Amino acid sequence: MSRQNRTDRPYDIVLFGATSFTGALTAEYLAAHAPKGLRWAIAGRSTEKLERLRERLPGGAEAGVLRADASDPDSLRALAEHARVVATTVGPYVTYGEDLVAACADAGTDYLDLCGEPEFVDLMYVRHDARARETGARLVHAAGFDSIPHDLGVYFTVRQLPEGVPLAVEGFVTADAAFSGGTFASALNQFARQREMAAAARDRRRHEPRLVGRRVSAPVGAPRFAKEVGAWALPLPTIDPQIVRRSAAALDRYGPDFRYRQYAAVRHLPVAVGGVAAVGALVAAAQVPPARRWLSGRVRPGDGPSPEKRAKSWFSLRFVGEGGGRRVCTEVSGGDPGYDETAKMLAESALCLALDDLPRTAGQVTTAVAMGDALIDRLRAAGIRFRVASAR
Ligand SMILES: NC(=O)c1ccc[n+]([C@@H]2O[C@H](COP(=O)([O-])OP(=O)(O)OC[C@H]3O[C@@H](n4cnc5c(N)ncnc54)[C@H](OP(=O)(O)O)[C@@H]3O)[C@@H](O)[C@H]2O)c1
Repeated sequence: MSRQNRTDRPYDIVLFGATSFTGALTAEYLAAHAPKGLRWAIAGRSTEKLERLRERLPGGAEAGVLRADASDPDSLRALAEHARVVATTVGPYVTYGEDLVAACADAGTDYLDLCGEPEFVDLMYVRHDARARETGARLVHAAGFDSIPHDLGVYFTVRQLPEGVPLAVEGFVTADAAFSGGTFASALNQFARQREMAAAARDRRRHEPRLVGRRVSAPVGAPRFAKEVGAWALPLPTIDPQIVRRSAAALDRYGPDFRYRQYAAVRHLPVAVGGVAAVGALVAAAQVPPARRWLSGRVRPGDGPSPEKRAKSWFSLRFVGEGGGRRVCTEVSGGDPGYDETAKMLAESALCLALDDLPRTAGQVTTAVAMGDALIDRLRAAGIRFRVASAR
């Protein structure tokens, strides 16, 4: 199936999980920013909740309403066959996500999610990448704060450096923000599945073709005081370095030997030590089922930071890139990373896949590979800053 003949589908974009905390913000963003004539729909398991959401959207009557349940593969197939692009916020993805990926891969429908779960991304590669390549579907995971500013920030940094030479980029993440019930549930679930995560990564390595003639790596860095950003740099074990590594493997522009290291940047040492201890305690508690159950009751599904809290939240990612005798410092920054900006990133990615003239790609692809400059342009126009801070 070629991508051109999908314009006969009833919807350009379907947003699945539109009633989630993040989904509702994404629906609001689409209602306010979608170009005239965009055919889009909100989808989820409760028609009543979807109707209530639609009533409060600006001009929301233009959005269709579709019922689908993550546990009903037929409903997901119908969803995939009715859309050119499906974006989903129904997580944890390792629990709820696979049937929709399968349906989109089969139907040649572009797919986006907010997954920060490496295990899910690796499983989906092994099980559905080949089918998506056959049908032309683009399967794009991690289209929120995980991992768009990281992936596109590194892509933007690489574009400031010389071509055809070894390149090294370091990323330093700073943010002030709170999290939602869904994010907390996904993080706990992932902490409890370390063995499954390692097994999925091994299986992926067995299936993925080896890179020939180039090297890319994303090793875990050691904690240190980073003079270049004036803060303590702590290794950050999120999905982002893996996504960056895949973009680097897919795009020759990252050079013959590319290395990326990512850190959380924390100004004061006691805060850094406290942060490491808190994450360690959470990971340990997640291994014990009663403790995990107790923790998951602390932040409920559907809950999330208030508009006032989100208005004060922000993020900044600073990158230092070196290669071929040149050194650049760049920054990607914006407002509330987890929700307001994530909703913007997911919605703009869906619009980008549906409407923009993009390189021809298929299968499991990153945001840099599938959308690159077109998505950077969209995000800049929507208020997320990409800038070169210094270069020499
Ligand atoms: N990558 C990032 O940067 C980033 C940022 C934010 C969120 N996230 C991820 O996004 C996901 C959503 O987070 P959230 O806090 O917005 O979630 P949430 O408010 O807890 O909502 C969960 C959603 O899942 C839906 N759902 C549950 N079971 C379902 C089923 N069987 N069929 C269909 N829908 C079902 C719920 O539907 P009802 O409304 O009908 O209950 C609800 O809409 C999480 O995985 C989170 O980790 C990632």
